[in-house]
Parts: sequence; structure tokens; C-alpha cells
Amino acid sequence: MRSAKDFFAPLAVGAPAPAREIPWRPSRVIHFFDPSNAKMAAKLPTLIPKVDVLLGNLEDGVRADNKLAAREGLIKIIDGGAEFGDTQFWIRVNSIDSPWGLDDLLTLVPAIGAKLDVIMLPKVQGAEDIHYIDRLLAQLEAQAGLTRPILVHAILETARGVSNVEEICAASPRMQGLSLGPADLAADRRMKTTRVGGGHPGYLVRQDPTPDDPSAVRATFQQDPWHYTLARMVDACVAHGIMPYYGPFGDIADTLACEDQFRNAFLLGAVGAWSLHPVQIDIAKKVFSPEPKDVAWASRVVETMGDGTGAVMVDGTMQDDASVKQCQVILDLARRLAA
Ligand code: GLV
Ligand code: MG
Repeated sequence: MRSAKDFFAPLAVGAPAPAREIPWRPSRVIHFFDPSNAKMAAKLPTLIPKVDVLLGNLEDGVRADNKLAAREGLIKIIDGGAEFGDTQFWIRVNSIDSPWGLDDLLTLVPAIGAKLDVIMLPKVQGAEDIHYIDRLLAQLEAQAGLTRPILVHAILETARGVSNVEEICAASPRMQGLSLGPADLAADRRMKTTRVGGGHPGYLVRQDPTPDDPSAVRATFQQDPWHYTLARMVDACVAHGIMPYYGPFGDIADTLACEDQFRNAFLLGAVGAWSLHPVQIDIAKKVFSPEPKDVAWASRVVETMGDGTGAVMVDGTMQDDASVKQCQVILDLARRLAA
């Protein structure tokens, strides 16, 4: 079975790029489209080469009376001979608690399963949801004669899902990764934000008073309400060898805040994010790729460290066995993106 597990396998220090095939190109941008929208579908041939993952969305964002049209739209796209090249093809099915989730799977796996890389499953609460889809997929794949197993990506968007994040990651070898679902999660937790992702002007920390001037103006610093969940998600994913993603950023016009939110996720260890509008594609690709200056610095450190053990000074900074590993992360990502 294909597996995402070796994505995080550490490279031996100083070892050349592995000769084996890299199974998963990093998926910096998962671009969502509505398959019930014929105008959007017509644009896919020009869109596909620009994104790492193209995702046909059947869940939230698609009207209830368009669910069947969305399924039919996906089948039409595949039957029409869509070419994906290096781009992965995913779908987001409806939740297994909804009236449509089961039929999404029963209809689409036989019809388009051979082209499908990953099924994104929303509102996952625990390992039982992954076991359910795992067993169903095994039957449907066998029935359809599919030889390439379809992987599963879970959205972490309920308080129960966050509590069970470890068991979700470990529930099946099909697990490819997790995305944060900030809108549903905010609602489920009864958070008081109406934005999809991003910050809130009221979520801040105020500078301490100055002891000798208690009336001095005190600065405020906005905090990231998603930090805790994202960090928890990254740890769980890495511990189980699957990939963590930031999810959607709904304020399409606020490209600056989108970039900041994506960058926070990148710096914390996420490998990609969703794009809900073409304007977010380049933001995600830029943010989730290492900067050339960071790649150059990492190469210098690795070269200077020789066999990767001991300690050296580079431009006044101490480098040792651990910092070489940090640099290898940057170099590994750069190499995978160039492959
Ligand atoms: C995504 O599905 C979200 O709820 O944010
Ligand atoms: Mg959601």
C-alpha cells in the first residue's frame, strides 16, 4: 500500500537524495472546486497544472439540492478524460452522519475510484469513523477491481475529534493526513468568532503595566486562536507519520492575513493549506516552500558540519548535531519540491 509514512523519515546525515521513488510530492495547496458548477469545471484544464492537489468538494459549500449534481459533475469530469499529470486528485465527501456521505462513497468509488488519490472525510470524531470508511473502501475497491488503495484525510473540526486526534491518526494505514477545520471547530467549541480561520481583534494579550509609570499606554498583541489545535495536530501527525495541513482561510480579500495564517502553520510544521479561490493558490505555494535564503543557509550549515556530528560556529551561531537535523528538514523539502 502506498503510504505517507516515509514523508517524515529522517535522512541520514550527509546522505545523497534517496534513489527510491518519492511517493508523495509535498501538497502545499489543496485547491477546492464545486463539481456542480459547470463553469468552474470548464476551467479545470488550466487550473490543474497550477495546484498540487485538486479537490472536488461535495460537502459544506455545496447546496443540499446540488449534492447529486456535484456527484454527477465529478463523474463527467473523469469520463471526459481529465488529465491530472503530477497533480493529485482528491474529493471531500459529505460526513458519514449526513444523508449523503454513504451514497457519495457508493457512487463515486466505483465510478471514479481509479483516478482518486485521497478521500477527505469531514467532522471526524474518533477512530470509529476511520474504521467505518476503511472497511467500506476495502469492499468497494475489491468490488471495482481497484488495485491502488484510496487514502483517507480527516478534517479535525469537532472538540471530540481534537480530543481523539491520536487515535484518528493511528486508525488505519490509509491515513494520509489531517486538516484543521476552523469554522466547524469554532462552532462546535462555542468559540465567539465568525471568521473562517484567522485571528480576532479581541483575542489579545496586553503589555504589563510599567511599574514607575502606571498610566503609560500599554500595547496589545493579537494572539493566534488556532495555535493550540494546530500544534497538537502537528505532533499527532508526525508521531504517526502522516501529514498535517492548515485548512481554509475564508476572507478571500484579506490576502495579507491569509499569508500570515498559512505561514504560522508552515513554521509550526504543517505541509500545506486549502485554497478556496485562485488568489490563494500562489500564497500557499509560496508560503509552504522554503525560501531560497533558508535553503542556502541550511546547505552551508550541513556542509560546514561535515559528518554532522560535533559543534562548529557559522557566522557567530553555534551549530551541532541537532541544528543539522533542523537544516535537513529545509533541504529535504526543497529537494522534494524540485523532484
Ligand atoms: C472546514 O471545513 C471548516 O469547517 O473550517
Ligand atoms: Mg467544516
